[in-house]
This record gives sequence, C-alpha cells and structure tokens, in this order.
Amino acid sequence: MSKAFYITTAINYVNGQPHLGHAYEEIVTDVIARARRSLGQDVFFLTGLDEHGQKVQQAAQADGKSPQVYCDELASDWEAFTRKLELTNNDFVRTTSARHKEFVQAILSKLHAAGEFYQKTYDGFYSAREETFLTEKDRRPDGTFDPTYGEVVKLQESNYWFKLKAHQQWLIDYIEANPSFVQPDYRRNEVLGFLKNNELEDLCISRPLARLNWGIPLPFDKDYVTYVWFDALVNYISIPAAHGDKNVMTATPNFGRGTSDSALNLWPADIHVIGKDILKFHAVYWPIMLKAMGLTLPKQILAHGWWQKDGEKMSKSTGNIVDPVAVINEWGVDAFRFYVVRELDIGPDGNWTDAGFKSRYQAELANGLGNLVNRSLSMLKRYRNGVVTARHDELAPDAAKVAADTRALLENNELQGALQSIWHLVNRANQYVDQTKPFSLAKDPTQTRRLDEVLYNLTETCRVLAVLLWPFIPGTATKIYAQLGLSGSPDKYSATTWGGLNVARPIGEPAPLFPRKDA
Ligand code: MSP
Repeated sequence: MSKAFYITTAINYVNGQPHLGHAYEEIVTDVIARARRSLGQDVFFLTGLDEHGQKVQQAAQADGKSPQVYCDELASDWEAFTRKLELTNNDFVRTTSARHKEFVQAILSKLHAAGEFYQKTYDGFYSAREETFLTEKDRRPDGTFDPTYGEVVKLQESNYWFKLKAHQQWLIDYIEANPSFVQPDYRRNEVLGFLKNNELEDLCISRPLARLNWGIPLPFDKDYVTYVWFDALVNYISIPAAHGDKNVMTATPNFGRGTSDSALNLWPADIHVIGKDILKFHAVYWPIMLKAMGLTLPKQILAHGWWQKDGEKMSKSTGNIVDPVAVINEWGVDAFRFYVVRELDIGPDGNWTDAGFKSRYQAELANGLGNLVNRSLSMLKRYRNGVVTARHDELAPDAAKVAADTRALLENNELQGALQSIWHLVNRANQYVDQTKPFSLAKDPTQTRRLDEVLYNLTETCRVLAVLLWPFIPGTATKIYAQLGLSGSPDKYSATTWGGLNVARPIGEPAPLFPRKDA
C-alpha cells in the first residue's frame, strides 16, 4: 500500500473542557486533511487525548474521581467535540488505551536495552505545575523562576534519564539542512537559536511511583512510571503501529500488534500541527527520540500561534474564554470554522473579539457568499424555472485563476491565503451581478440570450465555489451542491474545472446559507 499523507494534532490534556485554542488546532488540521483528500491524496488524520501525568491526576483528585473514571468521562466529551467541529479524523488516540501503553513499553524496553537510558540522582529544582526539572540556568536575572513554572521546590530524586546531549550537533545540522522541517521560518530560527545558545540537558523520562502513580509503568523498573511527555509524543507512532505500519514496526521487533493484510503505511508523519508553546518537545526531544529508535523524522512540524480574547490571555478563572460549543450552537459550525481560519494565519498570535466574529459573519458569509448563492439561484428559479441552458464561459478565466491560485496555497498550507483567494471569486461574481444586472435583462425581451448567459456564469461559479470551499466549510459546500440539484459531494478538487453544471436539469430549492442576525 502506498504511503498515506499522515497528519496529526497535539493530543489534548484531558483535564478540562475543550476551548478555542484546541478547536483552532483541530480545525486547521482538518482543513489541511480535507484539502489534501480533495486534491487526490490518501490521508490519515490523527488526533486524541493525553491522559497521564500529574495535571490529570490532580484534576481527577479535585473532582473526587479515580483518574481512569475521570478520563473516561471527559474522553466522551472530547470525542463529541470532534463531531461538533465536523472533523474527519481517521482515529482517536487515548494514551490510556492498551494499544498505546503496550507500544510505549516496547519502545522503552528497546531503548533501555540499547543503553540509551541511565539512572542518576537529581538534586535541584522542580516545577510541579510544568512537571519539569529546572537548573540554575533557568533562573531569571533577578534570581526568580518564570511565574509559568508555578511553585518551584528543591528536590532530590533518583530517576532514569535519556541521553539527549550527544545529539545536539546532529540536530542543529539536520534543521539547517532541512529548512521545511520546522515552520514557519521564525519558529525554526527560534529552535536553532535555542540549540546553538544552550547546552542540552539530558531528559528525565521517569517519575517515582511514590510521587506520581498515574502513568505507564517502566517495563524495566516497577518503582517508576513514564514521564508524561515521553508517553505522549510516542502516540504519533503507537497508532501507526496499531494499524500494522511496517515502517514503525521495524523499531519494535518484539511488538505483536497489527495485521499485515489491513496494514497502513503512515510513518513518517507529513505534518505535526502544534502550538508554539510545545515546540521544544516536538523539534528537539521528539527528533532525538526517533533517532535513538532508528526511525525517520517527520517531514514537518507546523507551529501555530496562540489565541487571546479581547487582547487578554484566555483563562477559566477570570472568565475570559470563548466557548466553541456555545458559538457553534448560535452561529453554526461553518461560521466558526471560517472565522478562525480566515482571521488567523498559521504562525502569529490571534485575538478573538465577538465584534470581529460578527463582522466577518455579516460581511463575508451573509452578504458575500450567502447573498451571491441566494440571489443567483433565486433568479435562475424565477426567470428560467431553475434550468440553465447552454454553457457560457465569461467567468471561466476568473474561476480557473482562483482555482489554480487556491490550489498552490493549499499545497503550501496557507489556509488564510486560500480563503482570501476564494473570496476574489465571490467578490468578482457579486460584482458581475451588479454589472450585468440580470433583473433588468429579465424585463427586456431582446435580452433573453444574454440573461441565459449571465445565469449560467453565476450558477456555475456557485458550483465551483462549493468545491473550493469544501475543506473549510463542508456543510455549506454540501448545501450549495444540494441547492444546485447536484448529487454527490463537492469533495474533489478536479471538479473545479469549468462546465460541470448539468444543462437542462433543474436546480433544487434556494435557501439562505447564513441567515442574517440583526440583533
Ligand atoms: N498534551 C500536550 C501535548 C502533547 S502532544 C504529544 C498539551 N496539551 S494541551 O491541551 O495543553 O494543548 C493542546 C494544543 O492546544 C497545543 O498544541 C497547544 O498549543 C494548543 N493550545 C492551547 N491553548 C491555546 C491557545 N490559547 N491558542 C491556540 N492554541 C493553544 O500541550
């Protein structure tokens, strides 16, 4: 089986409900996955949950539940959230599942046998909030630690450490030789800057059971569980292994899962979509872990920025949050999907304002796209009983240019740019209505032919738009197809070719796509 385009999100901590930041990452990844499928690629999209570690153990405790019960309850909310966002993920990983845990243990055994770990007693500082060891170098000039670390305590503890240090120069060389490995460029420079200016510390991969029991037991020492990040990163290969991916199985010869007849070919991942805050884990620790396992590196780590609301950090405690489910219930999932991708390019930080959301809804969705489709189809219904006659190509060059530009942008994961490109066609077609004035043509018996031409161009443009929009707003795209009386789904980019409309077959019923909300 040929290799699929394999794309992942970070796996979300299951210590609360999904928020705007999680939703954004999931939607961006889904748009890329759908776009690649539309362009003809076989795609495997993985998302899921990070269920171990101290954060989850503490959240479960605060809720008076055992960690597993707590995770099981929340996992069903998170899975429901994937459906609410209309994600097309092919699998959903939970790090407490047997298929994942057994694979992590197989990897740990292999690396242990290969001498990649050693045991030592650490004497230093520890941030419980970030579950991380700190050194003198982490102190700020005034001697304190960054407040993001929360309370920092002195700690003396024996643990297992993974040899990272030895690979520092190799990683610098790799990132320099592979400019697309970390994107955008400024994130790549950040990683290179970090690697060139700091000596890498080895990574502590265990936590003593006495202090934390919610984790995967180390297969070679029953007194320890696995550090949550070592466990979590491995999800990107444990799931391919569970699907029998041979490229991953080579790293774990003793691992028994997977059947060859249904085996998928996934690894290496084509894109890991992550937020900027977890870049070091993905661009430093993960490549070195893979190298030690003898596996190829992912092709790209694509880091997006962080959302704020009204210019302030989102936080449950201050109530400054955006609840994606509430927005979707009020405005529809496509309005939400559209806004987050149109508003924020993949890379910089973004700012949610309710006013900004409403303004894009009104201007771009209701007055732009919605109005175009509704007036085009309503005129066809009124003047021609919903039937286009002969093909006419007046807007064909505009549609072809937008389809070509959009394709190039999609292939480059420039989703915001792709929407801007598609809106050139929306605006061009609305302008065409104003210029050709079909409502005047309809009153003039000598303009019958011209009206036919104009109506064909408008209706066909709506059809092409449905195909272009499908990765972003699939429900709306499907509604446009249905209103055009077309069977099937607008999910193949090749259908952007001009002339796909069925001449002589009546369209369906026009209905507003984005109802105006005047409140
Ligand atoms: N569990 C780890 C990831 C392990 S991946 C092997 C984790 N989980 S998280 O729930 O805290 O974050 C999941 C993703 O959501 C991360 O990529 C993170 O950057 C993203 N976001 C969390 N808050 C965000 C915003 N406010 N804005 C945009 N994305 C943000 O980290």
